[in-house]
Parts: sequence; structure tokens; C-alpha cells
Amino acid sequence: MSDLSPKPDVIIVGGGIIGLSAAWQLRRDGIEAVVLDPAPGTGASHAAAGMLAPIHEAYWGEVHILELNLAASHAWPEFAGELGADTVDYRRNGMLMAAHDTDDKALLDNLGDLHEQEGLPVERLRSRDCRAREPLLTPGVRGGVYSPLDHQVNPRRVVAELLNRVPTIPVSATRVSHNRVVADNGQTMACQQVVVAAGAWTGRLLGVPIRPVKGQILRLSGPEGLLALPVRGVVRGSSVYAVPRSDGEIVVGATQEEQGFDTRVTAGGVYELLRDVLSLLPGLSEIDLVETWAGLRPGAPDNAPVIGTGDDGIVYATGHYRNGILTAPITAAAVSALVQGHEPPVNLHPFSPSRFHPDCDPSSGAEQTLSGIPG
Ligand code: FAD
Ligand code: GLY
Repeated sequence: MSDLSPKPDVIIVGGGIIGLSAAWQLRRDGIEAVVLDPAPGTGASHAAAGMLAPIHEAYWGEVHILELNLAASHAWPEFAGELGADTVDYRRNGMLMAAHDTDDKALLDNLGDLHEQEGLPVERLRSRDCRAREPLLTPGVRGGVYSPLDHQVNPRRVVAELLNRVPTIPVSATRVSHNRVVADNGQTMACQQVVVAAGAWTGRLLGVPIRPVKGQILRLSGPEGLLALPVRGVVRGSSVYAVPRSDGEIVVGATQEEQGFDTRVTAGGVYELLRDVLSLLPGLSEIDLVETWAGLRPGAPDNAPVIGTGDDGIVYATGHYRNGILTAPITAAAVSALVQGHEPPVNLHPFSPSRFHPDCDPSSGAEQTLSGIPG
């Protein structure tokens, strides 16, 4: 066993978008941070579509998550600007949610009531208004909701840019404490503060109930501009989305499957995605299918992220479930604030790692133990 020298201030376990963004933020704040990951950027962040969609990811009963997602959405222009907005294909052309049949329209209307209640800026559209915004939609589309605040980015490009800015060490952590990490090569590495951002694998390292939620996702390739806007469809009660990139790629996703650490792409998964997306956007049937993939979303029991300092003194940054690309900049800022003992940029009480303790009163939220790095 040997110590790494010189000792970094912060070791981050996990090099997905969350760990890398946190490391980049810490380094910009003058704190020496390194990331440990045997295969950085290959987890859920590689699968993700890249919708930055606080509004179209808003659900009844999740208003605290909506608040975090809205704060993240406001942080994106600066975050993307510093990485190079064109380089990461950050686009602010809004998003359209479209209903395939009358029951799907009722479902959208119900979400519209939530948008109204929360004062979110959306436009309810009739069938012909949907097609005016996105001509590729089937003439049978029943109606929709347009949200100018929902944006998009290419997560693979974001991760590539972050990897250019952050040092990584290709090892896996087998044990962690608040100031020490034991790696699978036998090395022990010491630091002032350990941050764990190991996505769906966090529960294997720490006693936090994070589960993997499988998402199968496809990449199509066609002429640039074929699809004008990201479209989320409700098709016979199921959700499907198509997200166009500026180079003609169209990402079609995604299944939601609770079946553990399984990343197999299945005939049924691909069939369902193609069936639903082509019901809504039949014009996509002629373009190339260039990739099938599956990734594991990190989900907590309440589907809210886990961001905060645990009773074990470790800083947690995990459980970002369906919105880890969206929330990366705000999580990064929160992690840096926690490490420095500053006030976080958002209320982290609903996201405390201590909320899973049986004796925790969820209404009060757990007190955050802020760990400052001594200068
Ligand atoms: P990951 O990207 O999974 O990274 C975790 C990393 O930890 C991995 O690189 C892994 O190698 C490493 N690791 C694990 N264990 C260890 C260990 N012991 N030691 C060292 N390293 C370790 N979000 C959005 O905001 N918008 C979207 O459009 C969107 N679409 C999605 C589509 C799909 C199909 C899926 C699956 C997810 C999607 N998400 C989306 C969710 C988003 O991808 C995740 O919330 C986000 O990527 C989580 O990032 P992460 O860094 O926590 O995890
Ligand atoms: N946010 C899209 C997904 O998780 O599939």
C-alpha cells in the first residue's frame, strides 16, 4: 500500500458528467481535485440524450426536483459558454411535447395543469400549431405543449471537454472514507475530502439505496435539419423522445426498466422505441439506424438526487436519475460549496443523504455537516 503524492485536496470517485463537472468547478475555485474512474465517461452520461428539460421532466409530486432543475437550467448558458457552446452543441430552440391519440392528449392536459400551477412558461398547441413548429409530425397528432425553456446539449461532447480539463486516474475505488480511498490496485490515497459520484454503482460503495434504472436508446442519422426541434411524444400512454443534433444525428429514447445491472440491448426495447417514434414522426423511417445502446440511470427511492455531506463525512453527488445532464452545473456548484464550507447555491435539504435513515424526519431535512478544506 502506498500514498499518492502530492496529496490532492479532493478525490472524486466516479468520472461521469457529475464527478467531472464537480472536479472542474472545484479546480476553477482553486481546489486541487482529481477523479478516479477506470472508464470515465462510459456510464449513464454516455447513453444520455442531452435534453435540458426542467419543464418536460416536471411531474406531479416532484416540485422540489422541479426547483433544482429550473436552477440548473439557468446555470447552463454560462456552463456551456465556458466549455464552448458550439463545441458541445448547446442549443436553445425549445422542446415540443406531442400527443398521439385522445388519451395521450388527456395526459398532456393534466401535465398542462401542473405547468399552470407552477407558473411555467409553456404554450398549449392545437394539432396544426404542432405541425407548424415541427412539420415532420404526423398529421394525426392531437395537440401538444411547447416549452421555450427546455434546451439540449450533446453529453458525449460535454464529457470529452471536461476530460480535457480534469485529471483522472484509471482505478476503481473499493473502499472510501471522508479522507481516504482504497483502490483496486491496492493503493491507498489520502486527501482532505472525498466526494462520491459513482452513479448507479454508488450503492456498491456506500450504504445509500441507489438503484440502476436501465434506459435503451437509439441513434439515427439523417440530413441536417430534418427534425427542427426535440420532440417528446406520449404514444398510447408511453413516452418517447427524438432529439436532433446539429450534425444530423437524432437520438431516440428511452426505455425505463427496473432490472438491475443489465445493459443488454433487446429486440423488444428497440422495437418499442421505433414503433412509438415512427407513429409520431413517420418521416424518420427512411434514415439510418447507426447505434443501439443501454445505460443505467442512478435512481434513489424517491427519484430525487442525493447531494450533501453524509453522517460519514463523505460528500455525496449521485442519484441524478433522468436529469443528471441537466443538473450537472448546479450539482458541481453545490459540491464545491459543500467542500469549502460555503452556503450551497440551492436548498439541498430535500436531497440530503441522511434522508434514508429510518429516524430522519423528512419534513425538516437533515442538517448538512459542511466540511471546509483548511487553507
Ligand atoms: P455516470 O455517468 O453513470 O458515471 C458514473 C461513473 O462512476 C462511471 O464512469 C463509472 O465507471 C464510475 N464508477 C462507478 N463505480 C466506481 C468505483 N468504485 N470507482 C471509480 N469509479 C466508479 N439526463 C438528462 O439530464 N437529460 C437527458 O436527456 C437524459 N437522457 C438519458 C437517457 C438515458 C438512456 C439514460 C440512461 C440516462 C439519461 N439521463 C439524462 C440521465 C443522465 O444520463 C444521468 O443522470 C447522468 O449521466 C448521471 O451521471 P453520473 O456522473 O452520476 O453517472
Ligand atoms: N431524461 C431522459 C431519460 O432519462 O431517458
